[in-house]
Amino acid sequence: MNSICFLYHSITFRGGFCMNQFTYCVPTNVIFGAGTVSQVGQAVAQCGGTHVLVLYGGGSVLRNGTLDKVTASLEAAKLRYDVEGGVQPNPRLALAQKLTDKYQTSGIDFLLAVGGGSVLDTAKAMAMGLYGGSPIWDYFDRTRSVTGELPVGSVLTIAAAGSETSDSAVLTNEEIHVKRGCSTPHNRPRFAIMDPELTYSLPPYQTACGVTDIMMHTLERYFAKDAGQNQMTDGIAEALLRNVMENGLIAMNEPENYQARSEIMWSGSLSHNDLTGLGRDKDFAVHQLGHQLSAVYDLAHGASLSAMWPHWARYVCHNDMARFANLGRKVLGLRCDDDETCVLSTIRGFMDYWHTLGMPVCLGDCIGVQNEATLKSLAKGCSYQGTRTIGAFVKLDQDDMLEIYRMANI
Ligand code: NZQ
Ligand code: ZN
Repeated sequence: MNSICFLYHSITFRGGFCMNQFTYCVPTNVIFGAGTVSQVGQAVAQCGGTHVLVLYGGGSVLRNGTLDKVTASLEAAKLRYDVEGGVQPNPRLALAQKLTDKYQTSGIDFLLAVGGGSVLDTAKAMAMGLYGGSPIWDYFDRTRSVTGELPVGSVLTIAAAGSETSDSAVLTNEEIHVKRGCSTPHNRPRFAIMDPELTYSLPPYQTACGVTDIMMHTLERYFAKDAGQNQMTDGIAEALLRNVMENGLIAMNEPENYQARSEIMWSGSLSHNDLTGLGRDKDFAVHQLGHQLSAVYDLAHGASLSAMWPHWARYVCHNDMARFANLGRKVLGLRCDDDETCVLSTIRGFMDYWHTLGMPVCLGDCIGVQNEATLKSLAKGCSYQGTRTIGAFVKLDQDDMLEIYRMANI
């Protein structure tokens, strides 16, 4: 306990309100608003980029004209560029490695991701490899540490993963069915162009997946070992959840509602740049359970999360009923008196919300009901063959993971 906290305790006689130590540095230059895509050339030049590799996904940016706007801006800034497409959702190691090899001696000095988390994470992975050498999976399985990266910037086209300001990159090694993240401060992009209009063309399912992921980045920080010890962070997290849930419903009905798309886009960055969890640990067990589903079934990230969260919540809620009840009261506006009733209503409330968005809330809704052998294999994969636990709010081992997959198997 530090001296200020001690003073606070001694005056108020209240316990449990100390923030943990933290450092908070999010160096990404956010360029937000309608039409900002035209500033991308200037943004790259300001970062010192001269030869840009523009990366995109399966073609949405060709169809909606975003790529043309990007290349026009690069040309106006007199920048040299190459363009590569083909990044898939749940981005694959093979493509990232292939492109890294192709551009290793090209003189590329800036990577520009035009897309969502999958394109951004491929760019981040390539940035590690182009700077520090290959194979890039070494950075993900921790056999090699990241000491630097080529600079990465983004033109964001979907509000979801938060990769545009996060310190993470997530890749799928399709050969061994492992989806794994790599977090390092080097991963923070230099800039993020966030033009909400670019998200108007999102299919409803992707909008819903994005809203779910944004919620989950906040929920996974709300439930931490030191949950409840930081009022400011709690307040930000609760406001963010209310905001993204409300605007998510609006955007589903009105895809071109600028205000709703803006709120979701900004929430997406704030939910995963660490702001919503400052001063405490984070959990991220649901992400790990979901990553295993995505690695094996190529399930969309957001869907993997809504399918697992309710069952994780039912499994761990007894460890801190008051925390779950608080979430329901502050975010869903529940008015139940006793915590036990409130916890069940909270979990049910989130399930109902995801149902309204068309998101799965169990395995039967997405990959189908599985047999026991498959569930065991999922738990084995998620626990890295029994060598790791996941979570911080409650530490979960392979047996716990299996039990949660069983609970979700309806
Ligand atoms: O590939 P295209 O044709 O562009 O279509 C994409 C893709 O099919 C489409 N899309 C994107 N913008 C669009 C659009 N369609 C129409 N109009 C637009 N404006 O949406 C689909 C999904 O794209 P993707 O990039 O996969 O989405 P998202 O941003 O949700 O990224 C998901 C990936 O990020 C990882 C996830 O695990 C997943 O692999 N995450 C990355 C994190 C990070 N780096 O910090 C944290 C997250 O927790 C997450 O794990
Ligand atoms: Zn996520």
